[in-house]
Amino acid sequence: MKLINLGLSGTVQVIGDKSISHRAILFSALAEGTSVIKNLLISEDTKASLEIVEQMGADVKIQDEVSITGQGINGLKKPKNELNAKNSGTTARLLIGLLSKQKFSSTLIGSTQLNKRPMNRIANLLVDHGADMKIKNNFLPINFNPKEYSFSYQNTKVPSAQVKSALILASLYHNEPTLIEETVPTRDHTERMLVAMGVDILRLGNTLTVPPTTKLEPLTITIPGDISSGAFLIALGLLRGKQIILSNMLINERRLGFIKVLKRMEAKIEILNIREENNEVIGDIKINKSKLNGTTVSKDEIPDLIDEIPIFTLLASQAKGLTKVVGAEELKVKESNRLDAMKNFILNLGGEIKLLDDGFEIKGIQKLKKGKIETLDDHRIAMTAIVANIGLNKKIIPDNFECINDSYPSFFEDIKLLGGEINE
Ligand code: S3P
Repeated sequence: MKLINLGLSGTVQVIGDKSISHRAILFSALAEGTSVIKNLLISEDTKASLEIVEQMGADVKIQDEVSITGQGINGLKKPKNELNAKNSGTTARLLIGLLSKQKFSSTLIGSTQLNKRPMNRIANLLVDHGADMKIKNNFLPINFNPKEYSFSYQNTKVPSAQVKSALILASLYHNEPTLIEETVPTRDHTERMLVAMGVDILRLGNTLTVPPTTKLEPLTITIPGDISSGAFLIALGLLRGKQIILSNMLINERRLGFIKVLKRMEAKIEILNIREENNEVIGDIKINKSKLNGTTVSKDEIPDLIDEIPIFTLLASQAKGLTKVVGAEELKVKESNRLDAMKNFILNLGGEIKLLDDGFEIKGIQKLKKGKIETLDDHRIAMTAIVANIGLNKKIIPDNFECINDSYPSFFEDIKLLGGEINE
């Protein structure tokens, strides 16, 4: 008897969104009172944020839901030890804005991986306005000293939600409204969450006005499913799915680039039950196996799918015709140089890819072979390898599984739930 492969199917509640989880942790520590957070992502990256807010006096209780009692915007305590952002770029970058405004000195450190990622994109802007911080050659560690400084306008210069968020956090401490401008819109979870906490941030075009703020209301929030983690299950569904549903997913416009581009490539993806909760847009995502066609992803689209480009590269290798990604040089300074990492990924499996200065070109449909993937300890490269393994039914093995815990500790459970099995 021949077994018929029916494909992967089922409904999954993906873990809480990482960007929103970091913000919920950090902002709750600044609120007056206790925030109650459901579906908070507890991963290696968010644990870094949790430990740091505890070191500065927040009271964290982790049960089914997480409660965080804050000290008020001016009530953070001087930490006894260095603050360690570990591998988490979001933790480090948001904290630069916050620590530069505290009445105590502090030191921010990170892992070997994070110590290679640029911090001047924020530090320079603040130091130019008078902030007192010592940073060597663009990298952590950074020493902060108390210093009153302020600015009334700043452009983010880099299209980065982390830079924008650091500027917003610093601006809360100003005596006058602050204008923050970005050239390309980036994810807006900081603005949305602060509005939900009572700060009247106003957006006009690409410029935000942040009012002087003395008080944040605590949060009561259920964090929606992480679309950047869900992207790996979406990819599995497109390669081998027979009705996969991801429920209660974050579908914020600024995080929908992956789905938008895939739909342009003829992907069978539907978003159902769209609703708004806690000032974010949520929906259920239905995915079915699809025949994809190549496309071009332009510079302006990049911020909306920046974290999904590794998995997108794999999908592009399975799409008919040419796919081109441009304006994505930011990928060189993520957890790894993701342009290089994905070039080596495809080449290691016997495929072809042409690297550009700011992106790549890839032709499909490629017959990729089994092989070992060099992850460079980058969670999103490791998960892309697992999707390739199951989706293409080949023994494709990442050299590090552990790093997946940085963002998606329940990855393997969710895959199992859908009936996926790894070729070992
Ligand atoms: C993030 C913003 C993005 C993204 C990162 C998370 C955030 O980084 O790649 O994974 O939570 O603000 P940049 O701001 O550097 O583009």
